[in-house]
Amino acid sequence: MIGITGASGPLGRATAEAVLRTVDPREVVLTTRSPDTLADLAARGVQVRRADFDRYRGLVDAFAGVERLLLVSTDHVGGRLAQHRAAVTAAARAGVAHLVYTSVPDPVPANPAVVVADHAGTERALRESGLRWTVLRNHLYAHLQVPVIQRAAADGRLVTNAGDGRSAHVWREDCAEAAAAVLTQDGHEDRAFDISGPRALDADDLAALAGEVAGRDVEVVHVGDDEFAAGLRAFGLPEPAVALITSFGAATRAGHLARPTDAVADLTGRAPRPLEDAVRAALGIRPARRP
Ligand SMILES: NC(=O)c1ccc[n+]([C@@H]2O[C@H](COP(=O)([O-])OP(=O)(O)OC[C@H]3O[C@@H](n4cnc5c(N)ncnc54)[C@H](OP(=O)(O)O)[C@@H]3O)[C@@H](O)[C@H]2O)c1
Repeated sequence: MIGITGASGPLGRATAEAVLRTVDPREVVLTTRSPDTLADLAARGVQVRRADFDRYRGLVDAFAGVERLLLVSTDHVGGRLAQHRAAVTAAARAGVAHLVYTSVPDPVPANPAVVVADHAGTERALRESGLRWTVLRNHLYAHLQVPVIQRAAADGRLVTNAGDGRSAHVWREDCAEAAAAVLTQDGHEDRAFDISGPRALDADDLAALAGEVAGRDVEVVHVGDDEFAAGLRAFGLPEPAVALITSFGAATRAGHLARPTDAVADLTGRAPRPLEDAVRAALGIRPARRP
């Protein structure tokens, strides 16, 4: 039996759909805080169970019978280590054999991304659980760059605190396909994979893409973290988002997101999709003509 937590979220649902392409629905358990949203999958024969990592009491029952479980990290940045630890403990008590977890690349203390502490703590909990484990260190989702590119195209300037750093953005759908592969194939236990797009892009690459959208040159404006954060604040973003986005720029600058890997291709048998395709698809533009 294969289980997926957070199955109503985009990554959880996409992973479930990918798993169901090869697995009998009766062998799939989806857990979520809002089972109603998965009624369509329940109608296909999947077991949908309520589970909230903040409510430990129901978790062991929710994971009962599951052999391999994908623990989708929650969106409660800064407060999710306790949630994830509860899920790991419950999985062990429920008899789960193999736990798969969605983490972040390079979860080391030197990495300034604010999400690192939660993920590093959860990875530790996984390793100490006594269960077989797999960590999927997902790079930044490619679609998150769409508003960045859009704004740069509108302004004619791309403001960044990432310096000359590169980032190997990945499609969330490719993260889902990779997770489904780990859930449905044997042989990926006790390993960490960096799940990335095909190339690591720098600010000049992103500005060139914005230029394609705008139909004119887009210049790169390099600023420090404080100035970058002030710009996000002035744009109306709430403080947690300001801190999160600024810290990812700093992490990019320091090279923590710069290593594209073959993991998506190795796991799924299909090349990862490039960021450019996500942006062009979202903004309805055709690829630039190549000389
Ligand atoms: N790589 C990236 O660029 C990137 C970007 C954003 C987020 N992430 C991480 O990747 C995860 C999945 O991505 P996504 O795009 O699908 O995220 P999302 O849209 O933010 O979805 C949030 C997820 O957290 C789950 N969740 C929230 N509170 C929970 C709780 N108390 N107990 C159990 N589950 C809880 C939700 O499950 P239910 O609603 O079904 O209960 C849902 O799966 C995110 O949660 C976050 O940790 C990565």
